Amino acid sequence: MNSYEQSIQRLKNSALGAATVRAFAALDPDEKIRNPDSLAREFIDPNFRPDPDDPEKVAAFRQQLEQMLPGAYHFQNSRTKHIDALMKKAIADGFRQIVILGAGFDSRAYRFASLAAGVRFIEVDLPPLQMDKKATVAAALGKLPANVSYVPLDFNSQPLEDILKAADYDAQQQTFFNWEGVSYYLNAGGVDATLDFVARHSPAGSRIVFDYMPQSMVDGSGEFYGGAESRRHMAGMGEPLTFGIPDGEIGNFLAARGFELQSSVGPAELEQAYLLQSDGQLQGRVSGYVRMVEARVV
Ligand SMILES: C[S@@+](CC[C@H](N)C(=O)[O-])C[C@H]1O[C@@H](n2cnc3c(N)ncnc32)[C@H](O)[C@@H]1O
Repeated sequence: MNSYEQSIQRLKNSALGAATVRAFAALDPDEKIRNPDSLAREFIDPNFRPDPDDPEKVAAFRQQLEQMLPGAYHFQNSRTKHIDALMKKAIADGFRQIVILGAGFDSRAYRFASLAAGVRFIEVDLPPLQMDKKATVAAALGKLPANVSYVPLDFNSQPLEDILKAADYDAQQQTFFNWEGVSYYLNAGGVDATLDFVARHSPAGSRIVFDYMPQSMVDGSGEFYGGAESRRHMAGMGEPLTFGIPDGEIGNFLAARGFELQSSVGPAELEQAYLLQSDGQLQGRVSGYVRMVEARVV
């Protein structure tokens, strides 16, 4: 494998890792905790698919991951629920165009089919990942849905304007952008180019949701629950964290790029909103370094 192929393989592993957590968490016996991504299991290695009749395996997987990367399982689980809620709200508010940037194995275009009648989805991802995904979706659903377009693109080296060439992106229409699990894998230029595209090619009121890491997590100067383990793991995979936003500066960061911050949540809010079990106990802590925001184009 040359270095480009290695990098693609690592990104594919990161997308599969996220889908794997969703596949296991979707089998949580407690419906208050259960992840809504019932399709995630389709994307992962059949030999590794969790057995729906074996809840102990789900708990064992969660505990193993917790030891390796404290808080990561609970972050992935709560992140799905948070973005589901924001996307559903956008659809209820009348948004009819949704762009999923760095889509990986995001299944919302398919899971939301019934509540998203008339909504068009555009999924953007690196070409090799997207090819795999399309094959799996076609196999799982019988065919690729007509309301989903696929745009193969590298954020670091190709202008997102190429999205405009995708037959059905409508730059006049209020759009909901989901940019989940991507920013910290890009360079600063790739992040700015992405936000610049959204700000310039979608009307005021368009929304973007994304997660990011504080700069002090990326440069190692900050201490966070699960932070040291995560940095070590990423570096060991040959994929060190590449992008962070100066601590406490998210509002200014967004304002300088044409956005207004709408909501910002961290570990404590995610735990309270999504990880309290039916018995009222917290299932587990979320990694201390995660941040999620929703912003609107001004
Ligand atoms: C951790 S995965 C997250 C996938 C999905 N959004 C999710 O949350 O399950 C990171 C995704 O970002 C995409 N990505 C990373 N760097 C990229 C780049 N330079 N251009 C396009 N996509 C990129 C990867 O292909 C991968 O699908």
